[in-house]
This record gives sequence, C-alpha cells and structure tokens, in this order.
Amino acid sequence: MNGGERDVAEVVAQVYPAWIRAQKPYGLSDQEGQVKLNQNESPFDLPLELKREILERVLAEPWNRYPALRDAELHAEVAAYFGVRTEQLLIGPGSNSLLGALAQSVAQPGAVVVAARPSFGLYASAARASGNRLVEVGLGPDLRLDIAGMIAAAREHRAALVFAANPNNPTGTAVPTEALLELVAEVSGLVLVDEAYLEFSGLSSVLRALDRHPNLIVLRTFSKAFGLAGVRCGCFLGHPEVLAPIDRLRAPFALGPFVRHCIRAILRQPELLRRTVEQIIQERERVLARMSTIPGVVPRPSMSNFVLFEVLEHEKVYRRLHRLGITVRDVSGYDELKSSLRVTIGTPEENEAFLNALAEAVK
Ligand SMILES: Cc1ncc(COP(=O)(O)O)c(C=O)c1O
Repeated sequence: MNGGERDVAEVVAQVYPAWIRAQKPYGLSDQEGQVKLNQNESPFDLPLELKREILERVLAEPWNRYPALRDAELHAEVAAYFGVRTEQLLIGPGSNSLLGALAQSVAQPGAVVVAARPSFGLYASAARASGNRLVEVGLGPDLRLDIAGMIAAAREHRAALVFAANPNNPTGTAVPTEALLELVAEVSGLVLVDEAYLEFSGLSSVLRALDRHPNLIVLRTFSKAFGLAGVRCGCFLGHPEVLAPIDRLRAPFALGPFVRHCIRAILRQPELLRRTVEQIIQERERVLARMSTIPGVVPRPSMSNFVLFEVLEHEKVYRRLHRLGITVRDVSGYDELKSSLRVTIGTPEENEAFLNALAEAVK
C-alpha cells in the first residue's frame, strides 16, 4: 500500500453511517462499592455448593473442541421447562443476541418495525442497526402498552415486526395476556412478546397460544428470575419455520459448556426459583409501600422486579443517592418519563439502605 497515512477520523466517517457514529455507547455510571440497583438483576447469587457442582461438570468437558451446534440435552430440558417441542426453541448467549438477529432477519428496503415508547432500548437500536424503519407508539396514559395503537400502527405501515414487552421495561407495567394475544391475532407481521420479567407478574405466559399463532415469538431469559445475568442465556420460542431464518443469522457455537451446565443445573432447582421470585415480589410490595410514604416520591405500581418512581429533581436525587452508596437507573431520557428514576428490587438489606438513602436524598 502506498496510499500514505490516512486519518482515523476520515476512515470512521467514510465507513460508518451517521446514526451509529452519533449513538451513545451503552454505559453505566461508576459502581465501585455501590449497592447496585440499576440493571434489574436478581440480588440472589447461586448457592456456592451448586456453583461448585457446575464447575466440576465444566472441568470434565473438553475445552479444545467447539461445542455442539445444537446441544440436544440442553434443548430437551429447556423445551420441557417451557412446555414446547425442541424445534420450537432457539437458545442464545443472552436474549439480547437473539433480538439483533431477529431485527436483521426481517430487514429489506422499506421494512418497518413497530415498538412501544418508552420500552426496552435495544428494540429501537436493533431495528435501526439492521436498516429497518422504526415506528414508535407511545404508551397509554397508565404507562401500559397501547395495544390498540400498536395494532393501528402495525397495520398502517404493514410492519414486518412488532416488539411488545410485557411487563414493560422501564415502566414495570403490564397488560393482560389476552390483550397481547389480540395484538398477535390482529397483525400480519411477526410479534415478539418479550416476557423477560413475566415470573414477577403473576400473569400467564402467551406461550400456550404458540401453536395457534405462527407469527408469535416469545422471548424468555435466564437473566432475571433465574438469577443468571452473568451466565448470558436467553431464548426465543416460536414456530420452527419462523425461527429458522433467525437461526441462520446467528454466530454458530455461541453456547459453551459453562452456559450449558449452568442452565441444566438451575432447571433442576424449581424450589430455588419459586422462593427467589416470592421473596422479590414480597420485597417489591414492601418497598413500594414505604416509598409512597416518602414526601416528594411518587412510585408506580410494578409487575416486575423494579420500580419506576418520580421525584421533583431527579438529577439531584440521583446524585445524592449515588453519594450515599446507591446506584439506581436514570430513565429521564424519555420525554414521557422526564423526572423519573428506576430502582431494582434488591435483598431486604439493600432495599432498606435504598429507602433510607432516598428519604435523605429528596430532603
Ligand atoms: C425487556 C427486556 N428484554 C430482554 C432483556 C435482555 O436480557 P438478556 O440479554 O440478559 O437475556 C432485558 C434486560 O434487561 C430486558 O429488560
């Protein structure tokens, strides 16, 4: 090459479109030494004994070989847990990775993706990153999904894909299962029903309708109720022929022995899952009740493992909480949530620390 030295800024400007250069990186504030209540994780780690058992199994695997393209035992056990056939299942390293492949799979000139706003930010970025046109539909006045509005938008734009999180993040609100099934029945494109937080809602899953609706894809994750955010595993459940193009767009061999043994082990611990979920729901109700007694704090009822709340000066409250050792999520970037913060339900001790700090921070 004798082209001479080129300025890196020139290369970046030439090859990357403006939208990705302008996009803010996914970043979180400094969390050192903080009570971490900003990512909707489970506050409960796996018991050490169980971690050791998993590690023993991982040690016995060959690390020099690629893992199976499609691990039969893992698929059989996950499918049995969700009550579907193995062909109806795609497992990925975090459901995030599958959302990207889904948005790519429908991309073609003029393709439209519909998503609620505010909702999980990845829907918008995955839709745009894959070249689709994004049409956003505001939430209803109660901050729940506006199902009628989403149906109208999907029909008007002949949307290839609709994203619907139930319960929704960052609002914690949910619509009845029947409302989602109406959305699925009324639109012709794919509907991704994201049930990442379903376990905390008491609602029944839309999974039971899978056989009736070939355009329905259900997202489930092991990151929330199962407490395995660090392991990275989530799945799509849907019609095999609808899942096939998404599967083709994924990087192969993405699930190594660690993920495989963690998931198989947790599925054998239904009692652990039940207790965790029960405790988080109990704590959520306690935290909500206490928050409503703090002057200047307006919490929203939640069907999830986090609580959205309004305060008068959110920036000041966020900073003060941080100084008092508590990290929450600032979600005020959405016009609709101008003065709001979001707090994840932690252990009873963490929640107590948060409540005391909040009472201080709003003074
Ligand atoms: C609504 C929703 N869906 C999906 C995810 C992604 O979960 P994961 O990639 O950990 O499976 C999240 C994570 O916060 C979420 O809030």
